[in-house]
Amino acid sequence: MDHFLYRDGVLHAEDVALPEIAAEVGTPFYCYSTATLTRHFRLFDEALEGVDHLVCYAMKAASNQAILRTLAALGAGMDVVSGGEYLRARAAGVPGERIVFSGVGKTRDEMRLALEGGVRQVNVESEPELRALSEVAASLGVVAPITVRVNPDVDARTHAKIATGKSENKFGIPISRAREVYAEAAALPGIEVVGIDVHIGSQLTDLEPFRQAYRKVADLTGALRADGHDIRRLDLGGGLGIPYTRSNEAPPLPVEYGAMIREELGHLGCEIEIEPGRLIAGNAGILVSRVIYLKQGEGRDFLILDAAMNDLIRPAMYDAHHDMVPVIEPAPGTEQAPHDVVGPVCESGDTFARGRMLPPLAEGDLVAFRSAGAYGAVMSSEYNTRPLIPEVLVHGRDFAVIRARPTFDEMINRDTIPEWL
Ligand code: LLP
Repeated sequence: MDHFLYRDGVLHAEDVALPEIAAEVGTPFYCYSTATLTRHFRLFDEALEGVDHLVCYAMKAASNQAILRTLAALGAGMDVVSGGEYLRARAAGVPGERIVFSGVGKTRDEMRLALEGGVRQVNVESEPELRALSEVAASLGVVAPITVRVNPDVDARTHAKIATGKSENKFGIPISRAREVYAEAAALPGIEVVGIDVHIGSQLTDLEPFRQAYRKVADLTGALRADGHDIRRLDLGGGLGIPYTRSNEAPPLPVEYGAMIREELGHLGCEIEIEPGRLIAGNAGILVSRVIYLKQGEGRDFLILDAAMNDLIRPAMYDAHHDMVPVIEPAPGTEQAPHDVVGPVCESGDTFARGRMLPPLAEGDLVAFRSAGAYGAVMSSEYNTRPLIPEVLVHGRDFAVIRARPTFDEMINRDTIPEWL
């Protein structure tokens, strides 16, 4: 459920009509709903009620300061994957003890930043990283709380580019070697083992792969405890998928996910952390764009928008489907026709959808891509010297620009000219 609904024939974000925002900020733009962000965070938080837990929002999904503040105020922790994200989370007021630091290639500088600033735990992904972290911690005179991310060799049954839990993926250490690695960790001076971490992929639409992975984590918890490690925290990663189409998809709900977690891991008495990103932000954001031209091609009609692959790369990168709706609601029974929906960027990959059934649209009309709140704005670029598009946050009847569109001068002046030119 989200808060982007038609009212009197006009698509609204909560209580604000989208044409009103378009008139003020121009198109294209991202628009987020506070109520949806809040609702989605609470679904996870409530799903784990009664269990000692922390929902660490995977801020890579959408990391605008205003979004982070909205979630932090509800009690969210953050899952960060870079020094930049760590600083962003801190700047949004998230205390170090609510930040988990994930990622396959943390540099020593990033480790130092987190250890100096305070961090709940570092999720370590390899032995070299473990040794480096111990050295950095020892040099600062602190001890780094860690989990080791284990790779359970489970097929997440999702898009190959976002599956992370198979042995051929670069993530974590093979679960079969976990006991050795924990033994080494326990012996290192700058390291304190606090738990186990696992994350098997993103956009999972079935609980079964999670269940398989978590069973392996439960077994490992027993084995590591028997080896003398104080395993008291389990970080279960993110990955719960969202419906990208209105009709046929029904991924499991957070409450079902929470129930499965209790079933598989509840008896262990561990504190549970989860790292959802997409489910919190995905359907809390849309991308609003304007039709520039309609063009008749050979046997197909092109709808040319002012948004492009640099603004929303998911269709080009993962063949992702994003529902697209006109901002002005078509009359019931309006006939639809297939369109290829494209942006102005000079490559054929700049295609949002092929043969998409749409009601008649004209130049200047506004359209909205749904489910664009996660991995939308954060993955955008200025390819073709197209400015990063504004982000807008709606809160009831209010809206605010939370990231302004840069001017062309700002963009050009970011470059510096060497003295010989
Ligand atoms: N934790 C870790 C360690 C992760 O690597 C990720 C996502 C998450 C949590 C959050 O997963 P989520 O709940 O959002 O599924 N750009 C891609 C998705 C990449 C996901 C990367 N890792 C996309 O647009 O589909």
